[in-house]
Amino acid sequence: MATWSAPGKVFLFGEHAVVFGKPGIAMAIKPRVFVTVRKARQANVAKSAYIEECFRLMGVKGSVYVRSQLPSSSGLGSSAAVTVATLSAINDEFKLSYSREQIAKMAHSVEKKVQSRASATDTYVSSFGGIVLIAAGAKRRLPPVDMQLIVGNTMISHNTGRLVAHVADMKEKYPEIIDPILDAMEGVAMRGIHKLEEPKELGMLMNINQSLLDALGVGHPQLSRMILAARDAGAYGAKITGAGGGGSMIAVYNKRHKNKVAQAIEKCDGRPIITSIDSEGVRKEKE
Ligand code: PMV
Repeated sequence: MATWSAPGKVFLFGEHAVVFGKPGIAMAIKPRVFVTVRKARQANVAKSAYIEECFRLMGVKGSVYVRSQLPSSSGLGSSAAVTVATLSAINDEFKLSYSREQIAKMAHSVEKKVQSRASATDTYVSSFGGIVLIAAGAKRRLPPVDMQLIVGNTMISHNTGRLVAHVADMKEKYPEIIDPILDAMEGVAMRGIHKLEEPKELGMLMNINQSLLDALGVGHPQLSRMILAARDAGAYGAKITGAGGGGSMIAVYNKRHKNKVAQAIEKCDGRPIITSIDSEGVRKEKE
């Protein structure tokens, strides 16, 4: 029996822009998915297409038990975390000796197979943890920063593929308007790299990024309510994280405003998750 866990992620900057080769910054967060795999002659029916695909790819049969601290379809990378943890647990249980790098690559191929589209960001961040700069498809780990972060889950599930297609349509229809917005998002992310340790500046940049995301039309009334309420409660800044259209928002705040920001999100019928960076990535758990 082998139990492994992998973290979720948020986008600090640059979601949607990364699809067009612009830089983005993603960070692994504390909530995790735990997966236990045990060798079995007969596989029990997996509850998830991701898990089924993991076993098919590894060419083995086993039973699986999943426990998740991450809400699904909420822009927090839960499917990537399930996939990375499942592949790692299979790798361990069946002594297959794949490296973490290989697991990250396989996890991306599993996501691509199951979803209509998938970027390698979620699976990479979940595998390695920390803060990752995505630039023109390449990934570079940035030094970890201990920032105070609240995630607000709207509990409204979103469809990343549809939102990405919407932005692509907008770009085709209004290139002279959308291209400068994507350029501005690049400017925000590039400045963000150097401001990760300055919450006030970070918050300001998040607010700018949020206005740009709204201009792309990937917002949702519930996200807007929660973002404005978080700022009103003292957060330095707040924005959508991930594809938008539902899913989740994030806010950076000063410690003394923690409860007020969390309560503001709750008042808007959102679910607050007080969290911070995960710098470990996928890890083995005690049996
Ligand atoms: O909502 P999520 O976690 O699926 O994030 C999507 C982020 C996008 O930039 C919109 C798409 C991508 O593949 O990077």
